[in-house]
Amino acid sequence: MTTPIKSEKDRVVIFDTTLRDGEQCPGATMTHEEKLEVAELLDTMGVDIIEAGFPIASEGDFAAVNEIARRAKTAVVCALARAGSQDIDRAGEAVKPARRSRIHTFISTSPVHMKWKLQLEPEQVYEMVIASVTRARGYTDDVEWSCEDGTRTERDFLCRCVEAAIKAGATTINIPDTVGYAVPEEYSALIKMVRERVPNSDQARFSVHCHDDLGMAVANSLAGVRAGARQIECTVNGIGERAGNAALEEAVMAMRVRQDLLPYWTGIDATMLTRASKLVAAVTSFPVQYNKAIVGRNAFAHESGIHQDGMLKHAQTYEIMMPADVGVKQTSLVMGKHSGRHAFVHKLEELGYHLAGNQLEDAFVRFKALADRKKHVYDEDIEALVDEEIATAQDRIKLVSLSVIAGTHGPQRATMKLDIDGKARIEECEGNGPVDATFNCIKAMVPHAAVLELYQVHAVTEGTDAQAEVSVRLAENGRAVTAKGADPDTLVASAKAYLAALNKLTVKSRRGQAEALVVGERRIHSTDVG
Ligand code: KIV
Ligand code: ZN
Repeated sequence: MTTPIKSEKDRVVIFDTTLRDGEQCPGATMTHEEKLEVAELLDTMGVDIIEAGFPIASEGDFAAVNEIARRAKTAVVCALARAGSQDIDRAGEAVKPARRSRIHTFISTSPVHMKWKLQLEPEQVYEMVIASVTRARGYTDDVEWSCEDGTRTERDFLCRCVEAAIKAGATTINIPDTVGYAVPEEYSALIKMVRERVPNSDQARFSVHCHDDLGMAVANSLAGVRAGARQIECTVNGIGERAGNAALEEAVMAMRVRQDLLPYWTGIDATMLTRASKLVAAVTSFPVQYNKAIVGRNAFAHESGIHQDGMLKHAQTYEIMMPADVGVKQTSLVMGKHSGRHAFVHKLEELGYHLAGNQLEDAFVRFKALADRKKHVYDEDIEALVDEEIATAQDRIKLVSLSVIAGTHGPQRATMKLDIDGKARIEECEGNGPVDATFNCIKAMVPHAAVLELYQVHAVTEGTDAQAEVSVRLAENGRAVTAKGADPDTLVASAKAYLAALNKLTVKSRRGQAEALVVGERRIHSTDVG
């Protein structure tokens, strides 16, 4: 079989906005370190442009974009800015250290957005397009302009704005389907129309940015590519505003698997897709739906007898791509209580983790403890353990121990020991059930106003000795964070998840306005043993 020659005209640039549009969605906040880790993986994976954040939004966003700009090896580092000069100056400042930088500036162009959101006349918006792109070009030669709500924009006005943006120096023109309203034929016709009607359209690369409100983000993006767009804006696991953005892994694999109809190529190393999905799920605590295309845990699982029979005869009967193509390895059982440090490090590397120093030591100790309690330690167990190790390394509040009395004769009672900023505390509480008793201990030792919005449990692997993975979402003052905890004991996993969410909230509070959580100041019936 001959390998088709890849022509530059068919190259689709991957613009990842996990750290901007993805991080913007409720509950997906990442810490500074988590953002750096995600950016490093995106860079290694071959993402062309990393939209690292919205620098004017907060000091934290500025710092993350700035540090990613400093560290990125190959990817272009991009910062988002509205059309105002302060936004653009802040974005320009943030991406300054990058080897290759981009400013992405946008303004709404649809009648509904201009009238109600911006309260501006179209002519004022038109002038701002020119001014914003011109200002951004003062910082970098690589400027992207987006017409927010592009798919609901009046066509003549859209073409005028695109022409003006290119004339002012925009090198990429993005036509977002901001509200996820378009259908593929319509979106493809829109891209084609703009490219044909705008006289200077050949001087810019066209880009697609589709939201998934009607479940068509990837289909629309690919339709846009077929109409001549050569940049897809997407996120790992499809996270993003509301129903999310086009999923990077789906767009990339669709082009790889359906070369007959989509003869385009990207620079993405697809074998890293699963790793990227797991990392983003871990740092955002947004679980990946089991049946999610490409990266869901069932994407390559065959349960029914008929399917298993077909698979055993020939994998292509029910698989259109090989699990290894996207980095899925068969779950192995080789790790157990007899495995040594060397085997553990080897396994970590196989799973894509590079731990060192104390983090490695701690992870190894926790692995041994798990192997003592659990007959088979699966790859998923190790991933859950290490993800938690990474996530909790800088936590102010740590779980030391928990014991719970539960059963048919209530009330259930929990005794918990925490380490809060290096001080040990103990609390004993009753509750309406063991989880309630456990959470009451936390509330007594760490008084807070956050509301529990989600409590979800699932088993990491099969069997009654499987680790429980608990997801908790806490909301406080309009901000929400989600976090996970894993342990063979569901109650310990619950406590870990709740504490992880509280730790994330304290980080956010410290980064944002006044500290909202007062840790350990008011303790009822608690004994200070530190
Ligand atoms: O969805 C959208 O329109 C956006 C813009 C900022 C590009 O995210
Ligand atoms: Zn968006």
